[in-house]
Amino acid sequence: MEATILKENIFWVGCVDWNIRDFHGYTTNKGSSYNAYLIRDKKIAVIDSVKAQFSDQFLKNIESLIPFENVDYVVCNHAEPDHSGSIPVLMQKCPQAELVCNDKCKNALSMYYDTKNWKFKIVDEVIDLALGNNTLKFVNTPMAHWPESMATYALEKKLLFSMDGFGQHYASSGRFDCKENLADILYEAKKYYANILMLYGKPIEAVFNKIANIKIEMIAPSHGIIWKEHIEDIISAYKKWIYCKPAGKIVIFYDSMWKSTEMMANAIYEGALMDGIEVKKYDLKYTGITDIATEVLDANAIAVGSPTLNKTLMPKVAEALTYLKGLAPANKYAIAFGSYGWAKKSGQHDVLEYLKQMNCKLVLEEPIQSQFVPTEEVLERCREAGKMLAKIAAEQR
Ligand code: FEO
Repeated sequence: MEATILKENIFWVGCVDWNIRDFHGYTTNKGSSYNAYLIRDKKIAVIDSVKAQFSDQFLKNIESLIPFENVDYVVCNHAEPDHSGSIPVLMQKCPQAELVCNDKCKNALSMYYDTKNWKFKIVDEVIDLALGNNTLKFVNTPMAHWPESMATYALEKKLLFSMDGFGQHYASSGRFDCKENLADILYEAKKYYANILMLYGKPIEAVFNKIANIKIEMIAPSHGIIWKEHIEDIISAYKKWIYCKPAGKIVIFYDSMWKSTEMMANAIYEGALMDGIEVKKYDLKYTGITDIATEVLDANAIAVGSPTLNKTLMPKVAEALTYLKGLAPANKYAIAFGSYGWAKKSGQHDVLEYLKQMNCKLVLEEPIQSQFVPTEEVLERCREAGKMLAKIAAEQR
């Protein structure tokens, strides 16, 4: 039995996924967890579920606390299958239970599952759920992470079930922030924000405004550890991340065929080195898009390099830029660079086009280009560009 107590009569009944390494393209090298909760009161509520493949463990966790026929409510905060995937088996076990969600979630669930025998209780922020000694309030959190997303607040216990927000893809037996190294879990929370929520900074800011006056003693997200001793740390981190607040950092990433673009990346790196400015440089052959997105979140500026291959950019650079374009990191300065063989208007201009589509502020209107091997003059231009980026980062501090 893996159920863990959060507060009196409130339990974690989720599952830890130690082995997941790819969560729809996000490299989850620390695994993850799907957190579900149970409140045992005069009325019994289960809050969210787990990925379908873990439903046996989820059901066992619930059954270790109460018989299924005692479940009154199953709250669904989010229809994405990592959290709703075991609701169908739970509803089969608990046909008397009402499925509590908002209207948009009901529609989404009905597209994923056969819900015709489910009894729905639509809450949409207007209805509180009295369980006995606990009252559940519901806060719609549209686009954090999907349009139907919702958070549930246990009023008397001051406990926020925050859904994806404040989560981390992080497998742990510790369950709580106090059992983990703070820097590690904050980094995983940052990675999670960058790769899952960065596009939704504005809607998340609106959620912060909505919940500004509620007292929170514990935040129980749907992935990773539960925050109880470091609530201020995670909230203040989110308040920076929602604006992609720069941290005095330049991120250079590139792919290279015969080292010419790499020589240019090295020269930009050299030029950018300045006291107080962090400079990071990644060859995309060795560093994947998940880590790149995490680093870009709080960068002041990015330098993106690709040689020309078959009249366009290298596939790994296209992958990284396509991913970042979707995540839409805000307020980034940028330059494009790279080498070409014979067609001057090609790969590097494709990089530039991506940067424009990402609404980056272009520090140079044209890419820095090198025909075949960079000359000392080209490398000096790269160093100068690096200096420009460092100066911008220093001015923004
Ligand atoms: Fe963890 Fe948006 O699901």
